[in-house]
Amino acid sequence: MLRDSVARFAQEVVAPKVREMDEKEMMDPAIIKALFEQGLMGIETSADHGGAESSFTSAIIAIEELAKVDPSVSVLCDVHNTLVNTVLRTYGTKEQQDKWLPQLAESKLGSFCLSEPASGSDAFALQTRAQKDGDHWILNGTKMWITNSYEAEVFLIFANVDPSKGYKGITCFIATKDMGIQIAKKEQKLGIRASSTCSLTFDDLRIPTENIIGGEGKGYKIAIEILNEGRIGIAAQMLGLAQGAFDKAVPYTFQRSQFGQPVGTFQGLAFQQAQAAMEIEAARLLTYNAARRKEEGLSFTREAAMAKLYASQVAQHVSGEAIEWAGGVGFTRETGIEKYWRDSKIGAIYEGTSNIQLQTIARFIQKQYS
Ligand code: CAA
Ligand code: FAD
Repeated sequence: MLRDSVARFAQEVVAPKVREMDEKEMMDPAIIKALFEQGLMGIETSADHGGAESSFTSAIIAIEELAKVDPSVSVLCDVHNTLVNTVLRTYGTKEQQDKWLPQLAESKLGSFCLSEPASGSDAFALQTRAQKDGDHWILNGTKMWITNSYEAEVFLIFANVDPSKGYKGITCFIATKDMGIQIAKKEQKLGIRASSTCSLTFDDLRIPTENIIGGEGKGYKIAIEILNEGRIGIAAQMLGLAQGAFDKAVPYTFQRSQFGQPVGTFQGLAFQQAQAAMEIEAARLLTYNAARRKEEGLSFTREAAMAKLYASQVAQHVSGEAIEWAGGVGFTRETGIEKYWRDSKIGAIYEGTSNIQLQTIARFIQKQYS
């Protein structure tokens, strides 16, 4: 039911705006509003906090269905649910959950601010500092590449309260835009162009002590444990993207004839499509299996890394071939096939690059075999 209702929403509300949003590099505010109204911004949040009280797998399916139509809308929903809401649901005190979760389920968009100009893969080397000042903390620093930040009102910010402790000084703060968060630059990107990506500066940003989540020095663990989950969300985004490109290009190959037959019936294309269908199925199984393990309380870090790595490879491969299956038409902006390919590239970069996923998997192998 959830899959059908998100698919319908994506077709009716999102699809008509995809091309315009891509060209304008801007998310339509009406779509963000509609996502909240549809109950897609608090998927796992409890009903008494205004959420849908659904499962992690439901969130994964929603992200997948949105990505079939627009990977930008999908990542907006993904970051808000699997990163921002999940940090609060998992590590927030009752007071923090009562205060923030209803706002995040009903109307306020969230951002997850970890990366900085000098710390991407090496995320725990972050330079943003927080100093105590009575019952407040003063934050100074710069964040980079922050998804949703142009439209967001709530920000999870990772800052170091005690650099002498290395990454064990990293602490997670929750802040609102009106506390004084400034957008320094909005990036112009190859893909997911409707999804905002900005640098933020914190210039003596004052945050009350009660806005620390999980305790001082617990931020690094919060960041990576939530990213382990988030990576399954990106796998779902890439899976949906691959399926969306496939669904758009394949019908065309049975309408377009050359040499007196539909091009899709030439073995050269048919076998490529068979290979792509198999890869999508494998990515789906890896993604759902990682989600299942998470839900069942089993270890899932290795499986999440595999799902994210593989699904992003499949997304790039399938969307690239989809362009070729449609020939010249696939190369134009009109059909929207080329957009899937541009959008696919980010899967190998954010929430841990492909090398970081390989490193994560390799560490499990080393632990088991050395
Ligand atoms: N799961 C749980 N804990 C982990 C972990 C994992 N996958 N990887 C490392 N850790 C823990 C270690 O256990 C260790 O903790 P303790 O000291 O308590 O034992 C600590 O982290 C440091 O471990 P390492 O020295 O091995 O880690 P490192 O400094 O080499 O790198 C890392 C750690 C920064 C997490 C790196 O592996 C990584 O994942 N980098 C990518 C960062 C990333 O994903 N950024 C995403 C930003 S958000 C985003 O991108 C959103 C979006 O676009 C939509
Ligand atoms: P670098 O870490 O500089 O990596 C450069 C290259 O070196 C990569 O190929 C990488 O794989 C390789 N490399 C680095 N270290 C190793 C290693 N140890 N072994 C092998 N290879 C290595 N961050 C947030 O905090 N919040 C967000 O919402 C967010 N959204 C994003 C949205 C977009 C569109 C983009 C582009 C990024 C976003 N990010 C976000 C940041 C993203 O997580 C980082 O870009 C990513 O983690 C990589 O960091 P980097 O760009 O600094 O690349």
